[in-house]
Amino acid sequence: MTSELGRLIAHRIALTGPIPIAGFMAEALGHPRLGYYRRALPLGAAGDFTTAPEISQMFGELLGAWLAERWRAMGAPSPVRLVELGPGRGTLMADALRATRAVAGFHAALDLHLVDTSGPLRMAQRAALADFSPTWHERLDDVPTGPLLLVANEFFDALPVRQFHKTAEGWRERMVGLAPDGTLRLALAPGLTPFAAALPDAPVGAEAEICEAGRALAADIGARLRQGGGWALIVDYGHDHSSPGTSLQAVRGHRGAGILDRPGETDLSAHVDFAALAAAAGVAAFGPVGQGDFLRRLGIEARARTLKQRARPEQAGAVDAALARLLAPDQMGTLFRVLALGDDRSAPPAGFLDTPSDAT
Ligand SMILES: C[S@@+](CC[C@H](N)C(=O)[O-])C[C@H]1O[C@@H](n2cnc3c(N)ncnc32)[C@H](O)[C@@H]1O
Repeated sequence: MTSELGRLIAHRIALTGPIPIAGFMAEALGHPRLGYYRRALPLGAAGDFTTAPEISQMFGELLGAWLAERWRAMGAPSPVRLVELGPGRGTLMADALRATRAVAGFHAALDLHLVDTSGPLRMAQRAALADFSPTWHERLDDVPTGPLLLVANEFFDALPVRQFHKTAEGWRERMVGLAPDGTLRLALAPGLTPFAAALPDAPVGAEAEICEAGRALAADIGARLRQGGGWALIVDYGHDHSSPGTSLQAVRGHRGAGILDRPGETDLSAHVDFAALAAAAGVAAFGPVGQGDFLRRLGIEARARTLKQRARPEQAGAVDAALARLLAPDQMGTLFRVLALGDDRSAPPAGFLDTPSDAT
């Protein structure tokens, strides 16, 4: 049994023909009424997945300190647009702002903009950030220009990807069509499509995945940084160099699912190609570095010790467990990568100090 949105998509395909995976993913996540991010609260124990800011307050606190330090490095402009892409429940930003209350002039300079399409999550953000009068937007395009501090955690992985398979006749885009019984199924486009024509040569059987939406957004961020100055911090799971293969995956109720299963009720995400984002941005890029290394350099272990000193024994255990989850190489420490983009290539920002050769 598919979902209501699955039936709607199948009906549309029956009328107009197969659609690229990117079109399917955009509908499955963003359909105005039935899309995954429009209808439910997907984050947390009761949802499909959890994220670093939901695991521990330390994550948002340290990112807040990073942003405040970059604001100072920019010459403390006022106003500065503080933008979060996909703020989820608003936890990261709330922790970041609480941790930076004492930074002289920072909060007075902030003009907070949240880019999110989810109605239920916007309500959670409103509750978490009421003191900071945020403005919400559907797209970064709608945020006013000016000096910028931007943060995005687990946002780019939700942007639609296209997939391709190399056949003896050349690259063919993978599409979502219909099986004889009317259910959704994957099939290759019969001929060359525009994006397939632009892919580099590869052996028959090779797979490729590209995220045009991510590249376009990175190009917009880069243009804003060049024009108004500032910094962007992008945290996500993915790879440092563009590589062949596909990564799109589906999760429902903390378990793997088929990518066509119950659209709108299943999370879809893909590994982020950080090299493609940095190239599209066209500004100074630092990293990506592993989330574990980044948070350690920002002092997460000292912050954990402070929290534990004030904690009851069971709370201290929770701090240790969160620390391990955020830092351990077999958990989020290595798979999650951190990329900084900025208008100033003279010195690496905090967290990237050990990797000056990463600067482009
Ligand atoms: C995986 S959640 C991450 C939430 C949060 N950053 C965190 O770390 O907990 C993705 C967020 O991006 C939003 N989102 C997903 N696709 C979007 C899109 N195309 N445009 C705007 N927001 C989107 C979702 O509503 C959600 O808030």
